[in-house]
Amino acid sequence: MEGSGDMDAAPLLRPVPGSYGVPFFSAVRDRLDFFYLQGEDRYFESRAAAYGSTVVRVNVPPGPFIARDPRVVALLDAKSFPVLFDVDKVEKRDVFTGTYMPSTSLTGGHRVCSYLDPSEPKHAKLKQMLFSLLASRKDAVVPVFRSNFGALLDAVESKLASDGKADFTGLNDVTSFEFIGEAYFGVRPSSSAALGASGPSKAGKWLIWQICPVFTVGLPMIIEDPLLHTVPLPPFLVSSDYKALYSYFSAAASPVLDAAEGLGLPREEACHNLLFATVFNSYGGLKLLLPGILARVAEAGGKLHERLATEIRGAVASAGGNVTPAALEKMELTKSVVWEFLRLDPPVKFQYGRAKADMRVESHDAAYSIKKGEMLFGYQPCATRDARVFGPTAAEFVGDRFVGEEGRKLLKYVYWSNGRETESPSVGNKQCPGKNLVVLVGRLLLVELFLRYDTFTAEQVGKAAAKVVITGVTKAATSVSHG
Ligand code: HEM
Repeated sequence: MEGSGDMDAAPLLRPVPGSYGVPFFSAVRDRLDFFYLQGEDRYFESRAAAYGSTVVRVNVPPGPFIARDPRVVALLDAKSFPVLFDVDKVEKRDVFTGTYMPSTSLTGGHRVCSYLDPSEPKHAKLKQMLFSLLASRKDAVVPVFRSNFGALLDAVESKLASDGKADFTGLNDVTSFEFIGEAYFGVRPSSSAALGASGPSKAGKWLIWQICPVFTVGLPMIIEDPLLHTVPLPPFLVSSDYKALYSYFSAAASPVLDAAEGLGLPREEACHNLLFATVFNSYGGLKLLLPGILARVAEAGGKLHERLATEIRGAVASAGGNVTPAALEKMELTKSVVWEFLRLDPPVKFQYGRAKADMRVESHDAAYSIKKGEMLFGYQPCATRDARVFGPTAAEFVGDRFVGEEGRKLLKYVYWSNGRETESPSVGNKQCPGKNLVVLVGRLLLVELFLRYDTFTAEQVGKAAAKVVITGVTKAATSVSHG
């Protein structure tokens, strides 16, 4: 635990253990272990156990032929991981997706903000554009979320009545896209001539083109590995989808683009960046965040539901029946549940950074010397489920883990945003600028659910690329607030 003797003792200096095996062949074999034969958790846990170290040399996917070099030093504990947040020590240039970078023809020929190191002058301007956008739309988020997700829950209820179950993942894919477009730009994508109803499918396809090298969609290994993990999918096959998305942004985001020009950014580059931050960073994140929270909370069961409903309804009632910022702040358990989900199942699991100089990295047990130019890689679930910090329940979902003064002390070990939860994104670091919005949106989902329902049930169908299906809801006896 924090402050215990073993964390303070002078650590033993040891070479980073592990092996990359035979060039090419071992990288392919390891990729199969990672996706199909072991699965990603066991892939890292078994190597850490075999070498008796939470800092180990391993290959990471995709390897040949998409990535030139699959070799990394993996950081698999809560103590070594944060070196990745220190942009004085690690270079974050072109490492957003890992050891490969998708073609810039998927982003209008530009290296967008997520791929820039803070030392590159454009990084600060582009990130500032996003901070300004989020600040200017702050008051829109709650009402726009409530109207879109209120309609989603209406759809869930009619599906439950007709089919006995409702595919939350599918409904969320459509609703989150509408929500994020309307929240950021005040224009529903479905109402635009460029996109109509096709936005979510075009966006989903474009996302796959970029992340499929490190993703499994659940097809059999023999088909999926050669198709998705061996050579890049050709960008021209998604260019008409991208053009349609771009048209929506260049019209709907016109005022944001005017402001970007004021910051000295070329309008067209700003637009490609807005598209990426909205569709990849935000929408891509919400596709994982909201079904993930729903599944964990369903699994946690009725007792937690009852406590959430009491807290949420109490806070909303004391704000005159409205979901106000002050009411949301009072919901300590609700906030803790969102953080606990982000700790246990961080939606973005991989982080990378290249050592800028020779350095030392410390785990709980040892110190390791890293050479300039080596690629550091953090597998976040190992770091944020570290039993040396979170104790014997580290691998379990404990909804009230972050409640109270003691609970809040653990927040500095929550790393989902590529920074500590107690720190803030800035133009000088690489922490996610959507940090506060993401935690807010997670809380709003719980608010919407427990204003309507006393309890609900849901299950995960399938393993890779699982769907979350709602199987039942118990409506609140007295309606609290749907306004
Ligand atoms: C960066 C996670 C939502 C915009 C990041 C990084 C992570 C992350 C881990 C760091 C990647 C790296 O450099 O290694 C998430 C998750 C989200 C989410 C899990 C949702 C569940 C958002 C939202 C925005 C956003 C709503 C909207 C503005 C960005 C941008 C960067 C970034 C622009 C690059 C930051 C920089 O270059 O300094 N995000 N994010 N993300 N995120 Fe998010």
